[in-house]
Amino acid sequence: MTTTENAETTTFPPSEEFAANAVATAEKYEAATADRLGYWADQARSTLSWDTDFSEVLDWSEAPFAKWFIGGELNAAYNAVDRHVEAGRGDRVAIHFEGEPGDTRTLTYAEMKDEVARAANAFESLGVTKGDRVAVYMPMIPETIVTMLACARIGAVHSVVFGGFSADALRSRVDDAEAKLIVTADGSYRRGKPSMLKPNVDEALSQPGHTVEKVLVVKRNEEEVSFTEGRDLWWHDVVPGQSTEHSYVPHDSEHPLFILYTSGTTGKPKGILHTTGGYLTQTAVTHRDSFDLKPEQDVYWCSADVGWITGHSYIVYGPMTNGATQVIYEGTPDTPHKGRLWEIVQKYKVTQLYTAPTLIRTCMKWGREIPDQYDLSSLRVLGTVGEAINPEAWLWFREVIGANNGPGKEPKEHPAPIVDTWWQTETGGHMIAPLPGVTATKPGSAQTPVPGIEVGIVDEMGEEVGRGESGLLVVKEPWPGMLRGIYNNPERYKDTYWSRFGTDLYFAGDGARYDDDGDIWLMGRVDDVMNVSGHRLSTTEIESALVAHESVAEAAVVGAKDATTGEAVVAFVILRGGYEDDGSLEETLRNHVRAEIGPIAKPRNVLIVPELPKTRSGKIMRRLLKNVANGDEVGDASTLADPTIMEKIAEDMRTKHGS
Ligand code: WTA
Repeated sequence: MTTTENAETTTFPPSEEFAANAVATAEKYEAATADRLGYWADQARSTLSWDTDFSEVLDWSEAPFAKWFIGGELNAAYNAVDRHVEAGRGDRVAIHFEGEPGDTRTLTYAEMKDEVARAANAFESLGVTKGDRVAVYMPMIPETIVTMLACARIGAVHSVVFGGFSADALRSRVDDAEAKLIVTADGSYRRGKPSMLKPNVDEALSQPGHTVEKVLVVKRNEEEVSFTEGRDLWWHDVVPGQSTEHSYVPHDSEHPLFILYTSGTTGKPKGILHTTGGYLTQTAVTHRDSFDLKPEQDVYWCSADVGWITGHSYIVYGPMTNGATQVIYEGTPDTPHKGRLWEIVQKYKVTQLYTAPTLIRTCMKWGREIPDQYDLSSLRVLGTVGEAINPEAWLWFREVIGANNGPGKEPKEHPAPIVDTWWQTETGGHMIAPLPGVTATKPGSAQTPVPGIEVGIVDEMGEEVGRGESGLLVVKEPWPGMLRGIYNNPERYKDTYWSRFGTDLYFAGDGARYDDDGDIWLMGRVDDVMNVSGHRLSTTEIESALVAHESVAEAAVVGAKDATTGEAVVAFVILRGGYEDDGSLEETLRNHVRAEIGPIAKPRNVLIVPELPKTRSGKIMRRLLKNVANGDEVGDASTLADPTIMEKIAEDMRTKHGS
C-alpha cells in the first residue's frame, strides 16, 4: 500500500501498453537536449501551419525581451479551426458544451469555422481592427471561445476578465488595456440560479473616462438586463447575419495575441502579454505530449474557467490547434448534485481530465461513494494544475478516479497516469510535468522539465542547489511561450522577473526542492502572493480593498493553511477612530472584499485587532500573523515595537475563530 510517507520513493511507471502507444517518447528529451533551439524549430514547423516560414528561432539580443520564430507569419484562428476543416476533419466535434441547467450544444470544427468567421466579420463591422484590445467578460459558453478566436483571426488582442471578478476589477483591467469593445453575456447559471454579468459591465462603465465604444451581449439566461442606447448590442442581432466567409491575414509570429491580468506582489494586477507563434507552439506541443492526445479518438476535458491562463492554453489554443474534441462545462461541480463531474465524464466518455487539486480534495471530502457510482473507465490520463498536489489527494485521484473501471467492477490493473503540471500565466504553457508514457510518476511531485525547457533551483546567490536541498525555482533559458512583457509596463516586467538574478535566470516566485532522485517538488510562493483554490491572489490587493472601507485604518492579510482550498485569506484590521465593532463588522468587511474584488478573494476570517505587529521601523510582521492564523506558536516576537501585542491577537483568534 502506498502511503503518503513514502511518496518520494514510490513511483508508478507507465504500463508497457501505454508506453508502447505513447505520443511522446523519451527521444524527445534527447533531441531537445542535443539541440534545444533546433527542437523547438522542429516542433513549431511540424505542429503549426505557417504562412511564411521563420528564418531565425530565437532573438534574445534585447534580453529580457524575447522574440521567437523571427520572420514567421501565421494566424492562430486558422491553426485552431480552418486547417482542420481543410484537412477533411470538419465533422469532428470541437466542443461538447454542457450548460449547468442541463442544456447541451455540440459544435463541429466546420461549425466553429463558420462561427469564428461570423464573429470576426461582426467585430470588424463594429470598428475593431488589428491591434485593438477587446475585453471578454463571459461565462463558460461556446461564444467565449468563438470570441477569442475571432479576435485572434483579425489580430485584435483579447483581454479575458474572469466572470467572477467585480465591476471594479473589470474596470481597472478595461482601463489598463484601453479596450474598445467588451464582449459579455447577460449572465450565466451558477448553483442552479442565474448569475449576472451585464450589470457589472454597466457599473464598470458608469463612470466616464473609459475607452469602450461598444458592448456586445450574448443572451444566455432569461433575466432582464438594461441596455444603453448606441453602446450595447445583442450578439444575436449582430453576429448570426454575418457572412461565414472571412479571409484571414497572416500575423507576424510576435504579433500580440492576448493580455491576461494576474496578481502580483503589489496592488495593481499585471497585464501579462503573450504573442502568437511561440505561445501557440508551446501550448499545442505540451497539450499533445503531456496528455498523450490522440485527437481522432480522445475526448478531452479541462475543468478550468477560460478566465484563467489554464483556460486560454488548455481549452482554447492548445486543444483546438491540435484538433481535439473537448467538453466544456458552465457550472459548479455540485449542481444539481455532487456527482455532476463524474456524470459528465461518463456521458461523454472523457479520456483526459485536467483539473485542480482543490477540486480533488473537495471530492475526497464528499466521499468516494459518489464517483464509485459512475463508469469512469474511459479516463486514460489525469492532469492537475494550480498548486502542488498533496500526496493524499494524488493517491486518491489515482485509486478512486484513475482506477475506476465502472460500478461494481474490479479496479483497473493499470490506472490512468497522473501528470502534475507546473507552470504560470507568465510561462504560457507547461514547464515542469511528467510525460505520461515515459516518466515513472511520483505522488505530489511535478518532477521534471518538459522537453526543451531548462529549469533550476538556486540559492539566494543564484547558485544551483544539490539533491535533497531547496531554493528558488528559476528558468535558465528563454522558452517559446514565455510572456513578452507586462502590458504598458516594461520596467515592472524587468523588476519582477529579471532583476533578482539578472537576465540569466527567470525568477518564478516559487520555492522548490530536489529530492534524492533529482525530481522537483514545488513548495509554494516565496512572495506575497497567495494561492486560494489554485487562484493567485495578492495580499496587498486585498489589503488595499480593506482600507478602502470607511471603517478600516490599516489591514494585514495572510494566507493560512486550508484543508480544501490550499490557502485561505485571513485578514487582520485596525479600525479608524470613531468606529467600533457592533458584532457585524467582520462580516461586513468580508463582503466588502467580495464586492471590491470578487467572491474568490472573500476572506475566510477577518479579525479586528487593536494593533498590528510591527517592527520598530514600522514593517508589519506578516510571518507572525500567519502563525496565528494557522493556530501555530506565535514565534519570535522580540523585534516588535510592542511584543505583547501578539499574545492579545492570538488570544482573540482562538476565542473568535477557534484556531
Ligand atoms: C502555482 C496557473 C505547484 C505556482 C497555471 C505558480 C503550482 C502559480 C502548480 C501560477 C503545480 C501552478 N504545482 N504549484 N503543478 N501549478 N502552481 O499564473 O505557485 O494562475 O507560480 O497559473 O501557481 O499561477 P497562475
